Amino acid sequence: MDNSALVKAAVDVRARAYAPYSRFMVGAAVETDDGRIFAGCNVENAAYPEGTCAEAGALAAMVAAGGRQVRHVVVCGGGNAACTPCGGCRQKIREFARPDTPVTMVSDSGRVLMVRTLAQLLPDSFGPDSLA
Ligand code: THU
Repeated sequence: MDNSALVKAAVDVRARAYAPYSRFMVGAAVETDDGRIFAGCNVENAAYPEGTCAEAGALAAMVAAGGRQVRHVVVCGGGNAACTPCGGCRQKIREFARPDTPVTMVSDSGRVLMVRTLAQLLPDSFGPDSLA
């Protein structure tokens, strides 16, 4: 499967991250089941806890456009260390993805550093079906 457009979306949006406090820029892109791609970057705030993660931005853009089912997530951090989603973002992804949905971590140049399924990142998770 060709993921180049999804990877490029994550790499490109990372350049627009607003991270003046941590200087840690992150981009994320999600692809929906119908092939649409949505991107988001981290947006920090002088009131530090109000900052938001890249994954949250990408998911918010998806939902605002009517998207619901994620089939692939790409996260782009700096350098060559994989930027894995924080705990809160794993749960946010959980809302819209399946246990076997891949989450791919790429370098700032788009090189694949790590691939995990959502279930590997968030085992025994609580989700919409848990409320049924
Ligand atoms: N960050 C993300 O946007 N996504 C991640 O997966 C990990 C961390 C952001 C939050 C904060 O703006 C900065 O990276 C440092 O933690």
